[in-house]
Order: sequence, then structure tokens, then C-alpha cells
Amino acid sequence: MVTLPFTPDLSIKPEVTAFFDEPTNTISYVVKDPQSNACAVIDSVMDIDYAAGRIAYEGADRIIAYIEEHQLKLEWLIETHVHADHLSAAPYIQSKLGGKLGIGENIKLVQETFGKIFNEGTEFQRDGSQFDRLFTDGDSYEIGGLVAHVMHTPGHTPACMTHVIGDAAFVGDTLFMPDGGSARADFPGGDARTLYRSIQRVLSLPGEMRLFMCHDYGPNGRDIQWQTTVADEIEHNIHVGRGADEDSFVAMREARDATLAMPRLIIPSLQVNMRAGKLPPKDDDGKVFLKVPINGL
Ligand SMILES: [Fe+2]
Repeated sequence: MVTLPFTPDLSIKPEVTAFFDEPTNTISYVVKDPQSNACAVIDSVMDIDYAAGRIAYEGADRIIAYIEEHQLKLEWLIETHVHADHLSAAPYIQSKLGGKLGIGENIKLVQETFGKIFNEGTEFQRDGSQFDRLFTDGDSYEIGGLVAHVMHTPGHTPACMTHVIGDAAFVGDTLFMPDGGSARADFPGGDARTLYRSIQRVLSLPGEMRLFMCHDYGPNGRDIQWQTTVADEIEHNIHVGRGADEDSFVAMREARDATLAMPRLIIPSLQVNMRAGKLPPKDDDGKVFLKVPINGL
């Protein structure tokens, strides 16, 4: 029996605006309180040309322009997890618009793991202090008058959290659209069985709950989509729908993960995202570098 750490309230309907980042297939969201001008940004993206070592913020600037144009007040910047396929723009947006930056408390485990892999010195804190708030399972926070509930949904990574705001749930990489199935569970700290159990928690939300994905790759040539419902996932998800059992899911997920290459941007993403989206500190000449650990991943 799956239990939820809060009671969902479908009568509250936040306004959700999606921003699709084509190079990384990531969807960022602005979530607005219908009763005030308060909003949150979920999973923003920094632009990077990795081959050239060049970063930019055109995508983040579009989100900032949207917030300014609609005269919204940014209260939260949420990371559903430490992304391995894109770099966060949260500190950039925060520097322009304010707001608090939050992630799951297991960021500490992720920092421990990747602090070692990237051989970071003692100046890299592994206590999550780069963020303003570390969420635990069952935590809540407010976006104006909206109450956002946080559910720990690990498996893809240890710090994955699903944020449930009224009738909308932001699942990060816990689920994909029904025809996309589920995200990989083979990064350090990931686990297919844990992911299955987290997905069951998400699927125990009310059937009409709107679900918003962090990624979509348009499987089988369909157009990009990012919104579905719990009922639709239960009925149609190709990995966990129609009551797919835990052992079959684990076998499928592990076999599939063994065939997957590392994400193109995993090396820069982890170094930046474990620092809450900040670049590594400048060296003595004021220059910024990213590392490439050889045979380290
Ligand atoms: Fe991810």
C-alpha cells in the first residue's frame, strides 16, 4: 500500500507555462498562483556549446522576460533533481529576479559522490549549503497562496523530488510521457527497484492530477509533449502502465540501461548542478574551467 505524505487538493489549479529547450529536450516551467502574482520556476536551463566551452543564457532570458512581462514575483527556483543532461540556469535567474533555490536534501549524497569523482577540494561543500532550502519527504512551501508539497521519488537519482502543487505534479525524471516510459536508473546512486517504487507513489496521486515531465524526446517521430495525467500513465505507460510488476520493470530497466551511452553533457552538467548551477570557482588568473575525469564515470 502506497501512502502519500499529504492530501492532494485538485480544486487548486495553478497556471503552468512551459518552455522547451530543444538542444537538451528539457521542459522548464513557470508555475503561477492563480490568486496572486507569485510564481516559481522549475528546472531552468543554461545554454552551453560544450565543444567551444561557451555558455549563454538565451533560454533563461526568455523565462525572465516572461516573468517581467506578466509582472510576476518569483518566489522559488526549484530543481527536481541534479540533472545530468543539462546545466541549470537557476542562479542566473535568481540574480535577476530573486527567489529561493530549493532541491531535495539528498543533494548531499550526490555532492559526496561527484565531489569524489571530480576530485574537488575541501572548498567544495558537500552539505547542500549552495541552496537556500533542502526539501525532505512531506515538506511543503508556499508560492503566494499556493501550497507546494514535496514527495521524495528517488531511483533515477537519490535527490529526485516530485513537487505537487494543487492539481499539478512536476515529476522531474521519475516518469516520461506514456510512450516514453521511464528515465534511466543507472547513474551513481540510481536504482531501478527504487525508481519503480517511487513511480508507484506518483501513480497513487488522483487520476485527474496533471503530470508535467522534465524531458520529452518525441518517441516514434511524434511532436514534443510534456503534459499528461496519472490516469493516462496508469493506462498507457509502456514501462509501468497496466500494473506492470516490479521484477519485470527492474529487469527491463537494467537491461535497457546497460545499452545507453552517457548523456552528452553529463560532465559539465554534474560539475555545475552539484554547485546549484554555479560554475566552479575562478583560478588564480580569474579563469573558469571544467574538468574531464578520465575513466572516472
Ligand atoms: Fe535527470
